[in-house]
Amino acid sequence: MSRVGVYPGSFDPVTRGHEDLIRRSLRFVDRLVVGVAEHSGKQPLFTLEERVELLKTVVAGEPRVEVTAFRGLLVDFARRVGASVVIRGVRAVSDFEYEFQMAFMNRQLWDQLETVFLVPALELAFLSSSLVREVARLGGDVSDFVHPEVERALKAKFAK
Ligand code: PNS
Repeated sequence: MSRVGVYPGSFDPVTRGHEDLIRRSLRFVDRLVVGVAEHSGKQPLFTLEERVELLKTVVAGEPRVEVTAFRGLLVDFARRVGASVVIRGVRAVSDFEYEFQMAFMNRQLWDQLETVFLVPALELAFLSSSLVREVARLGGDVSDFVHPEVERALKAKFAK
């Protein structure tokens, strides 16, 4: 029996931190479905299609990872793709409150889905998509934080 994991998020845009968690997840799932949320309560910089395409570029060459957009509830998406675990990254104590709330709500909605929290590599623990967007918007160098294609996409976005 193969274990399928779902790694959901906004990925606006995907960072080296997300890439690190994808790699770590592959140590205990056979297949990982990266779910790009259409609605997460935030107004994204990148369109849904752009976020999916950037993720696909970043995970190219990893046959056990699939990238797909989803709308609606995460638990419904997880059920559709046959996932038994949802993976979320936690970087700091400040992440915990929101993550705990989500994990408990998701369990309430579907108790067959387990939430697994992963800790990123220490050197990436400060990283977030929102900080990357801000640094890029103000003309800073984000090459250490994102894949070169993502860096290019950010430059193109802010050149407009
Ligand atoms: O990267 P983010 O923005 O922290 O990801 C949040 C996300 C997309 C995982 C969360 O908003 C989500 O699961 N959205 C789908 C809708 C849903 O199921 N909401 C109830 C969650 S308890």
